[in-house]
Amino acid sequence: MSVKHCIKVDDFSSSEILDLFHLASELKLKYRKKENYQPFKNHSMAMIFAKPSARTRVSFETGFAWMGGHAIYLAPQDIGLGTRESASDLAQLLSRYNDMIMARVFSHSDMLEFERHATVPVINGLTDYNHPCQILTDMFTIWEQKKDSFQDLKIVYVGDGNNIVNSWIRLASILPFEFTCICPEGYEPDADTITYAKSKSLSTINISNFPEDGVKDADVIYTDVWASMGQKEETNKRMKIFSPYQVNRELVNHAKDNYMFMHCLPAERGREVTDEIIDSSNSVVFEQAENRLHTQNAIMVSLANKA
Ligand code: CP
Ligand code: NVA
Repeated sequence: MSVKHCIKVDDFSSSEILDLFHLASELKLKYRKKENYQPFKNHSMAMIFAKPSARTRVSFETGFAWMGGHAIYLAPQDIGLGTRESASDLAQLLSRYNDMIMARVFSHSDMLEFERHATVPVINGLTDYNHPCQILTDMFTIWEQKKDSFQDLKIVYVGDGNNIVNSWIRLASILPFEFTCICPEGYEPDADTITYAKSKSLSTINISNFPEDGVKDADVIYTDVWASMGQKEETNKRMKIFSPYQVNRELVNHAKDNYMFMHCLPAERGREVTDEIIDSSNSVVFEQAENRLHTQNAIMVSLANKA
C-alpha cells in the first residue's frame, strides 16, 4: 500500500478535508478532557527543524506525546541538511527508526526529496513555498464557526504573498470560497500556483494591490509578517513598501462587522497588525494557534490509518 504524506493541502481531497475537520473536533474534546487515547503507543516521530518554531514544535510534540508516542526534536545543527547529510539519505535513515517524519525546511525541493524517499508518512511543517498544517488549521477554525458554508465566505489576506498565501490558493483549488490576496506590487504569491488553482474553476481567486477595495465585506481578514524566516535582512526595506498594507482600524472598517481576524503567528505587532486589532473581540488568533494541535493530531491519525 502506498504511503500517504501531507506535503500540500491538496494532498487531501475535499471530502478527506471535511473528515479531518470532524476528527479534529472529536480529538479537541478528547484532549480538553485529557482522555486516555493512545493510537501511537510504541511509535516515534522524527521532527526536523531547519528554521525556528514555537507553535509547530510544541503542538506536534505535545500532540504526539498525548497520543502515546515519542517525538524527537532535531535542531538545525543536529541535521545539517544539505551540508552534513542529504534530504534523501535522511528520509531513508529516519524511516528505519521512526513511524513518521515531520519537517520544517527552507527549500521546498528538500521536502519533495523527503516525500520521494521516505517509507513512512512525511508531514510538511513549513517550507519557503507553503505551510499546509497551518492553512488546514485555519480553515478548521473557520469551519468550527461557519460549518460547511465555505462557498459564501470572503477570505481576504493582506500583506506579503508568501508561503501562507500559496497554501490558501491551493486550498481554493479543492474547496470553494472567495479568496483575495492584497499585496504590494512585486510581492504577489507564486504565479504557477495561481494559474493551477484558477484552472480548477472552483473558487474565485483575486490578486490586488489596493487594500480598501479588496477588504470590502470580508468575512475573514488574515495577515502574516512582512518578512518571513529567511528574509529578515529585508525587514527595513519592506517596512516602507508594506506600511499601506497594515491591518488597522481604518482598514477593517471596510469588512463585515462580525469579520474574523486571523494571523498564523508569530506576529510583529505594530507592523502588519495593530494591537487594537489583534487584541479585539474579532480576533481568533489564539483559538487558531490552539487548533494547530487538534488539526495536526487529526492529520497524524489519518496518515497513519489509526482513525
Ligand atoms: N505558525 C507557526 O507555524 O508558528 P511557529 O513558526 O512558531 O511554528
Ligand atoms: N510566513 C511566515 C510564517 C511563519 C509561521 C514565515 O515563513 O516565516
